[in-house]
Order: sequence, then C-alpha cells, then structure tokens
Amino acid sequence: MSKSILVIFFIYIYFIVGLVYGQDDHERKTYIVYLGELPEAGTSVVDSHHKLLLAAIGDEKIARESKIHSYGKSFNGFAARLLPHEAKKLLDEKSVISVFPNQRRNLHTTRSWDYLGLPLKLGMNSLVESNLIVGVLDTGIWMDCPSFNDKGFGPPPAKWKGKCVKAANFSGCNNKVVGAKYFRLDSHNDGDEALTPADEDGHGSHTSSTAAGVAVKGASLYGVGEGTARGGAALSRIAMYKVCWLNGCFDVDILAAFDEAIADGVDLISVSLGGPTNEYFADPIAIGSFHALKKGILTSCSAGNDGPYTSSVSNVAPWILTVGANSIDRQFTTMVKLGNGQTFYGKSINTFSPKKAMYPLTDGTHAASANGSIYGNASNCDDGTLAKNKVKGRIVYCEGSYDQESTIEELEGLGTIMTYEGEMDFSYLTLVPATYVAQKDGDKVDRYINSTKDAQGVIYRTTRVKAPAPFLASFSSRGPQTIDTNILKPDITAPGIDILAAYSQIPSVSGDSADKRHAVFNIMSGTSMACPHAAAAAAYVKSFHTDWSPAAIKSALMTTATPLIVKGREADLLGAGAGQINPVKAVHPGLIYDLSTNSYISFLCKEGYNSSDLSLLIGGKKKYKCSDFKPAQGTDGLNYPTMHIQLNNPQSRISGVFYRTVTNVGYGKTVYKVKINSPKGLSVKVSPDTLAFTKLHQQLSFKVEVKGGAMQNDTQILSALLEWSDSKHSVKSHILIYRPLI
Ligand SMILES: *[C@@H]1O[C@H](CO)[C@@H](O)[C@H](O)[C@H]1NC(C)=O
Ligand SMILES: *[C@@H]1O[C@H](CO)[C@@H](O)[C@H](O)[C@H]1NC(C)=O
Ligand SMILES: *[C@@H]1O[C@H](CO)[C@@H](O)[C@H](O)[C@H]1NC(C)=O
Ligand SMILES: *[C@@H]1O[C@H](CO)[C@@H](O)[C@H](O)[C@H]1NC(C)=O
Ligand SMILES: *[C@@H]1O[C@H](CO)[C@@H](O)[C@H](O)[C@H]1NC(C)=O
Ligand SMILES: *[C@@H]1O[C@H](CO)[C@@H](O)[C@H](O)[C@H]1NC(C)=O
Repeated sequence: MSKSILVIFFIYIYFIVGLVYGQDDHERKTYIVYLGELPEAGTSVVDSHHKLLLAAIGDEKIARESKIHSYGKSFNGFAARLLPHEAKKLLDEKSVISVFPNQRRNLHTTRSWDYLGLPLKLGMNSLVESNLIVGVLDTGIWMDCPSFNDKGFGPPPAKWKGKCVKAANFSGCNNKVVGAKYFRLDSHNDGDEALTPADEDGHGSHTSSTAAGVAVKGASLYGVGEGTARGGAALSRIAMYKVCWLNGCFDVDILAAFDEAIADGVDLISVSLGGPTNEYFADPIAIGSFHALKKGILTSCSAGNDGPYTSSVSNVAPWILTVGANSIDRQFTTMVKLGNGQTFYGKSINTFSPKKAMYPLTDGTHAASANGSIYGNASNCDDGTLAKNKVKGRIVYCEGSYDQESTIEELEGLGTIMTYEGEMDFSYLTLVPATYVAQKDGDKVDRYINSTKDAQGVIYRTTRVKAPAPFLASFSSRGPQTIDTNILKPDITAPGIDILAAYSQIPSVSGDSADKRHAVFNIMSGTSMACPHAAAAAAYVKSFHTDWSPAAIKSALMTTATPLIVKGREADLLGAGAGQINPVKAVHPGLIYDLSTNSYISFLCKEGYNSSDLSLLIGGKKKYKCSDFKPAQGTDGLNYPTMHIQLNNPQSRISGVFYRTVTNVGYGKTVYKVKINSPKGLSVKVSPDTLAFTKLHQQLSFKVEVKGGAMQNDTQILSALLEWSDSKHSVKSHILIYRPLI
C-alpha cells in the first residue's frame, strides 16, 4: 500500500470509529451515580464503579470510556456518560442511592462587619480562629487583591491536607489562601477559559474575602464606598474550590469539590450558588453538605435571588444553613441636578466624577431617529431607536427602562438617567455616568427637558447615606419551600446589598467588555454576598466553641438573630427566617437546639427514605433499619430552632406539635421561663413552661402545641415568637404558619 492510500485508509477508519462512538456519545448524557458513604478501607471504589458501569453498559471499552470521575475521598459515587436505559439499570442496583443528570447551577449574584457589631480588634479566640479554614466553592480567587495578603500568618494548621494548583494567571497560594483547586470534569461543557483557580469573574474573590479576607484600610471602588474592607473571620484561612465557569456551575464539579474539601480538612464550607431544587440525594449541594455534616463541617448556602416571588428558595436541606440577604445601614445614592436647580437622588453605583458643572440634556423622544420606531420605543431609548448625532455629547433621559447604558455608550452619549417603578433597594454598577430615579422624579426631569430648548443636567459620583436597617432584600428568595414543607427556609439573613469586597482584575468592574475599569475591590449585591457573611459568623462562633456540632452553631446563630423590619409586606416573613445574624451574641446563646447525625437519619426515615438507602448513607457493614433509630416525632421530626407549618389547603385548621430538646451552654445552674408572643387566631402552648437546669450541658425537653382555626380572608401568614429567657439570655424561636390561597 502506498503511503497516501494508508493515510486515506486511516482517515477512513478514524471516521467510522468516530461516527460510531461519536454518535453514541452524542446520545449519552452525563449522570451522577450516588452511592452514599465510603466503603470499608481496603475496597477500591474505582474498581467497584467500573463493575457497576460494566454491568449496566455491557461493553468493557465503552464502560471505561464513559466514566468521567470517581468520587471516593469523602463519599462514594461516580459521574459517567450514560444512555437513559443504562441510568435506569444503575438506579435499580442495590448499592445505588440515586442517579441524576448533571445539571447547571448559577451564582447567586464594607462596612457590613462594623454594622453587625463584630469587633475589628482581635479577640481572645485569635489562635483558634487562625486555625480554621473556610472552604469556598465559587469562581476562583484573584491573589493580587490585598484582602488575601498573608503578612503575619504562620503556616497552615498541621491538619490541612489540601493543595494549591499552579496554572494560568495563578502563581500559587500563601499562608492566607492555603488551598486552590479547580474542577472541570465534564469536557462536554467546556468553554474557552483557561483551566486555572484564578478568578476570571470576580464573584469568588468577593465571597471569599467577605468570609475571611484580611482588613484593608481605604478600600473603595474608585472612591465609592471607601472604608475598611474585611472578612468576618479575618484571621481564618481560605481554601478555594473553583466550580463555576463562564457558562455556569455543574453538578459533577460541585460534588467533586465537596469530596475534596471535606477530605482536605476545611472547617466550614460556603456555597454562593444554586439551581433547580431536587430531592436531597439528587442534589450535589445537599449530598456534599450531608457528608460535610457527618465530619462536623457546617455548610452555608445562599437562598437564591428569585424574590420577591414566593416558593423561590433553594438549598433547603435541613443540615444546610440557608441564608437570605438583608440591607445594611448605609445605602448608595447618586445625585442628579438639572439646569433649573432641581435635584433628585437616584440608585446606582456611578464611579465617574463630572468634570464640568453642567452638560446638555435630552430625552429618548427628542433623540429618536426618523425611522427608529421600528426597532422599539424611543422614549425607553431601546437599541436602534436613537440617532447618534442627537445623543453624542449629551446626557439622555430614558423612561422606564433598565440597562440602556450600553446603547448610550455606543452612541457616544455622556450618561443616562433611567427610571424605576416600585422599589429598588440595591444599586447597579453603571458603564457610563448613570442612575435610576423613581418614576415620579423622572416625570419632573422630562417636564424640564420639554420646557426648554437648552436643557442641562449633571450626574454626580455616587455617595453614601445612612438608612434604616435591616430589611429583607427585594431579590432575596422566599419560602415556602417545597421539599420539607414543615421546615422553615431560609434559616437566617445576612448583609447582601451593595457589599464592597475583593474582586478580580481580569473582568471589568461592570463585567461589560466595553468597560475599561479594572479594580481589586467591587460592590456587589445578592444572597451570594450574604452566604459568606453567615459562614464567617459560624467560623467566629466555632472559634469560641470548637466542640460544637454544625447544628449547635447554626442554632446559636438562629436563636440570637435580630428580627428584620417588616414594612407592610408581610410576605417578607417568608424570606427572613430567624432574622439577621448577630455573631457577637451567637457566641453566648444560653441554650442550643442540637442535632446529631442520627437525628437526621430518623428524620430521613420519617421522610420515607428506606432501610437500604439509610445503610448506604451511614456506611459500614451493618445493615440498618429505621426501627434501629429513635423515631422522629411531631410535625417536623427535627430538633430545629424554628417551627413551621404549611397548611394543606386554604380551609385547613392549624394544628401542629413540636418536640424540642435544649442543651444548657450558658450558666451551670439557671432557670429559663418561656414567653410567647402570638397573634390573634393562633394559640401556642408550651409545656413545661419553665426549664430549671442544674448543670452545664444538661438537656431538657419541652413540647409546643400550635393550634388555630382556619385562617380567614386573605391572611396567608401567621407568625409567633417563642422565647426562653433566664436573667441573661434570650433564646428565640420563630413560629410561622403558611396558608396557600388556592
Ligand atoms: C491572564 O489574564 C489576562 C487578563 O488579565 C488574560 O488576557 C490572559 O489571557 C490570561 N492568561 C492566561 C494564560 O490565561
Ligand atoms: C433608517 O434611516 C437611516 C438614515 O436616517 C438609514 O441609514 C437606514 O437605512 C434606515 N433604516 C431602515 C431600516 O429603513
Ligand atoms: C413607550 O414607553 C413609554 C414609557 O415607558 C410608554 O408610556 C409608552 O406607552 C411606550 N410606547 C409604546 C408605543 O409602547
Ligand atoms: C415630553 O414630551 C414628549 C414628546 O412630546 C412627550 O411624549 C412626553 O410625554 C413629555 N413628557 C412630559 C413629562 O410631559
Ligand atoms: C428503597 O427505595 C428505593 C427507591 O427509592 C427502591 O428502589 C428500593 O427497592 C427500596 N428498598 C427497599 C429495601 O425497600
Ligand atoms: C373577613 O372579611 C369580612 C368581610 O370583609 C369581615 O367582616 C371579617 O371581619 C374578616 N375576618 C377577619 C378575621 O378578618
């Protein structure tokens, strides 16, 4: 055979093989096969995964090629490319708990610590705090930000087994950021980013510095929000697990990050992302955080940014600390002044200072091009409707529209005044000088423009103002949750509006490629920002109480939280949980509602998980039955710090019983009395109503009966407060009844 024929022959073979496998592969989808706890030492998980795959697929070679990853450091499972019938076969295997498709999740996109009253000065717990490592699952980290400076930090604690991956734009870790890895297991979702723990988004640097960045004086975004930026656990270490890429965060990677973070020795995990709500063992965050819990690690997760709609909360597993976002006591405001002297205050983060006193001002209607109306509404400044010669060199008023800044920027306008209806409680970072004013102020701006041939105006750089707080952020996801209808979620809130923290220099500050501004600090809003605040508060509590379980830390944070201010909109109670974290108070909660791994197992039995699932979750040779555990009692079946009833239908009468046990962690000998604050139509009976403790760590139980008739008219929510107090502590449990209207 001549050389060229040989080449053609090989191309032909390659083509055929590619066709067969390629087509087959095209129909395969990535699934995660979850197998529970690790097997006994000495068993190779990799071999057992291959055996399972081979049994389901039948072909040795395809079985080998279809496997993407074996999880086997902290729990047992694997990811593989499967055909639907193969996935089904695997699900029928005795050793398999669940098989679920690899889904995409999304990011839930400083002064805040002073506002929360957490002292900047080092406390007596500093030695312990510096031994804590906060694992963050996010978009990576930008080491050049001063928040990650390790000056004064000794080497990582001896227990640390994590690693630091050196890659593009990432030269390594230091004694502050002690670990950094990235996860991009499924080549089927590859984008064109570099495989590196470097943060190409900014989000991961922001969340990790909020959790545990060092204090940086004089931090600001081009002068906006100037102050000391710092993490809540400023002495703790950070380990970054990059799972989010420009096209999202995938289940296979999230699960791998948990698998490694737990084995690496992190003390807390912060996860500011979420997505579709699935049952627990088909959800990588619920699975990962369950295995973290078994190792004494608390996971803090963002509740989501799908508010103010109800039933929008995500990350609801009871072993997760689910965190909503609240406002803080400063807001940003952007002043607009017109040629006639009128001034208005708008919402935005505008980093640009005007160079002149006034600029020409016009509106979309006046700047419309002759035939622009076919492209949209010129008074809204829709893309394509405006004439460049009428926009260039002017500030443009655009009514009732979001995000017209790039249109104005392209047409060389100098800025834009936009309007909002209703409520706007956080600020967008703008690409050109811009702000959003309330519609009624917008009308005044437009009336002025219409009244003169030579309209003038100016937009000043954003400044800050004091504001009442804490309110629930409008975007913060609300309950009622849909999986365990009698566990209240979110659990708690933390600052998540206009937070200044570290950022990456790879993206521009607005994320827009036309933007030439790059900075190591940025202002962001979201439950993504709230989640690391809560993780840091948990680290702070843990540094004083190294022996506390994840549930004890969570209880301390919840029972000492500050209730949010509820203005008119009662439905906000569905997003507030116990209220805003108060880390200083949480160190001395008095009583805690504790939970062991077995308590969660009993709970899962009550939820209908059967003995084969349980044995796999617990691990070991012994086969367990639900009857081996103390049965979960009452309406919710968990010793939870809040109490929640979702009525089945609008006419249901209210009836619930909650069994609770509290552990004395305050004074040795002390007497707690109960105080109930409940609305008309809701009876809350607690027995006994006095708890007399004789020693520290003593546990006492009580029963709470909640009763009421059917809720009337449009009432959807009834909320009550149960409070145990001794002379020093007040231990608050929120009780919330939710009634569906249909
Ligand atoms: C590093 O980041 C810069 C942007 O700051 C980018 O242009 C460059 O491609 C990156 N380098 C690598 C090797 O990815
Ligand atoms: C709109 O008008 C401009 C000139 O004003 C012209 O260049 C453009 O082709 C017109 N577009 C359409 C779709 O008619
Ligand atoms: C254009 O937008 C304005 C302001 O939002 C609105 O009042 C007007 O009805 C819109 N016009 C059309 C044609 O939709
Ligand atoms: C300003 O004039 C435009 C065009 O005549 C009109 O559509 C708009 O309603 C006027 N605005 C106010 C506030 O009167
Ligand atoms: C447990 O439940 C799974 C489905 O969740 C089922 O496939 C399995 O057969 C059950 N096992 C037992 C022992 O009932
Ligand atoms: C329900 O609405 C009716 C009619 O508006 C009113 O008379 C009644 O007092 C309301 N009931 C409650 C409990 O608010």
